[in-house]
Amino acid sequence: MTDSVKLNAAGKDLDLKVLSGSVGPDVIDIRKLYAQTGMFTYDPGFTSTASCDSAITYIDGDEGVLLHRGYPIGQLAEKSTFMEVCHLLLNGELPTKDELDKFSYTISRHTMLHEQLATFYRGFRRDAHPMAIMCGVVGALSAFYQDSADITDPQQRMIASHRLIAKMPTIAAMAYKYSIGQPFMSPKNNLSYTGNFLQMTFGVPAEEYVVNPVVERAMDRIFILHADHEQNASTSTVRLAGSSGANPFACIAAGIACLWGPAHGGANEAALNMLREIGTVDRIPEYIARAKDKNDPFRLMGFGHRVYKNYDPRATVMQQTVREVLGELGVTDPVFDVAIALEEMALSDPYFIEKKLFPNVDFYSGVILSAIGFPTTMFTALFALARTVGWVAQWNEMISDPEQKIGRPRQLYTGPTQRDFVPLADRT
Ligand code: ACO
Repeated sequence: MTDSVKLNAAGKDLDLKVLSGSVGPDVIDIRKLYAQTGMFTYDPGFTSTASCDSAITYIDGDEGVLLHRGYPIGQLAEKSTFMEVCHLLLNGELPTKDELDKFSYTISRHTMLHEQLATFYRGFRRDAHPMAIMCGVVGALSAFYQDSADITDPQQRMIASHRLIAKMPTIAAMAYKYSIGQPFMSPKNNLSYTGNFLQMTFGVPAEEYVVNPVVERAMDRIFILHADHEQNASTSTVRLAGSSGANPFACIAAGIACLWGPAHGGANEAALNMLREIGTVDRIPEYIARAKDKNDPFRLMGFGHRVYKNYDPRATVMQQTVREVLGELGVTDPVFDVAIALEEMALSDPYFIEKKLFPNVDFYSGVILSAIGFPTTMFTALFALARTVGWVAQWNEMISDPEQKIGRPRQLYTGPTQRDFVPLADRT
């Protein structure tokens, strides 16, 4: 490990400090670079740039490692619950039994939505994408919960965080109910966080909804697998929005908007649509050939990752969970056979081996969600629900940092240089 690196720029010899984290690559501290040289660094996709320091999540993409507060994702998915993981991400430690009871109770006391928000839903078209509704409704929370929008007050920040985690299942379930024309279901606080979400989504007022424990566990595990993923695009969006002092509800709405894209959270929907389109194992080679063709924009959805250049550890858990859910529900889905065969063929193809393209978390999640009964349009909404805890944990960490300042990237300007205004009548 070196303490500094030397750089010769703009005719100056600089000693740039090297900072070390607890694990992972060191970073070169370039904060004074512009002041000392008049030059910026250029890294449009942030492929070599750390935008913050954080003690929440660590990823080693080459080794396929994902740790939350030090705990491996595989252990958390196997041994803990989503509520425990929420506590861990937000507060830094796994809860004791008493802490977990208190935390779960607090979350359960914030599950209802302001009644007027139900009216808000009725303004949307019935065929609106659930993510369009989520962006709108979550942003609108700031109009209803102004008593927890003062970001300088740690107490209000924590209440807003609890509200967001608690209300997201209600908001997502209502988006689904609205799309199929069924009445909204009130939350039931005697159920688990995940059981309650299933009840609000698939229950109807006409009869008692019985939560299937295998489905509940699978869903809870999916939530755990999506809970946080360090400085990904949507989390960075939440941080950037929050860096201006915007209220947490507005920041999370910004994160939801970013998550929607097919290169990020929208990939689970796109992956299942792709698997359905492929349809049968014999058509896979055609799609693999298309994915490799430079002149075809088609990509294997659910494959590849900016950080993982090894098997995404979340995909391993996902694949096991698919088998459990399909077995429990007695579903035989040809899409799963296509997924398994596609993975096998891609992983033995030199193109995917050389580029280190492996299945990511989204490759199998769609198969499970579809077996449970969710339409593909809900997939990204479920991702947003689960990722909310990561977003609020990262947002809280940023706001509590005394050195926090507004995020303001710079640019390499390539437009016209200064020129004089031409009146309309003289323009040719
Ligand atoms: N299928 C075929 N080729 C691919 C794929 C893919 N899924 N992913 C990457 N490649 C190729 C690219 O064409 C590129 O080839 P080249 O070097 O010859 O030009 C190379 O691999 C590197 O790809 P980049 O796009 O430069 O890598 P980047 O890190 O920017 O992209 C991303 C990562 C966006 C996830 C990409 O792999 C992708 O589009 N995957 C499909 C969408 C997807 O599954 N997204 C989910 C991400 S996980 C999440 O958000 C939870």
